[in-house]
Amino acid sequence: MTYSIGCDHTAVALKETVKAHLESRGVTVIDHGTHSSERTDYPLFAKDVATSIQSGQAERGILICGTGIGMSIAANKFDGIRAAAVSEPFSAQASREHNDANVLCFGARVVGPSLANMIVDAFLDASYEGGRHQKRVDLIQSYE
Ligand code: RB5
Repeated sequence: MTYSIGCDHTAVALKETVKAHLESRGVTVIDHGTHSSERTDYPLFAKDVATSIQSGQAERGILICGTGIGMSIAANKFDGIRAAAVSEPFSAQASREHNDANVLCFGARVVGPSLANMIVDAFLDASYEGGRHQKRVDLIQSYE
């Protein structure tokens, strides 16, 4: 499994924590930056992660900004991207099981490193359930 990850200037340290955690779980990580605390614009990184999934370079993605909200709004503009902004593990799990989310977003101003890794684990360990959820995911896709 390959994950593309990205963040803005608010979340560089948390991205490093999450990257190390993903790699410790055997996930291949493509890091799209940003790599410094210099102020930047989160949609740029949402675009890089979203297009890397669209192209098949990565299966899934993780985007971190201050809240996770801007990243999810931007990523969801791209066809085939289902980005979920969450702040606890239950929603991360449900986003995979019910929504077939392929991008996980959270906020470095909202969650600390331990909770972030728990959120990542919940996302990694859950599987899409299909069934009654497929019609709803198909409806979302039909709006693209
Ligand atoms: C940057 O100040 C902040 O707006 C950004 O990280 C994010 O929270 C946007 O949704």
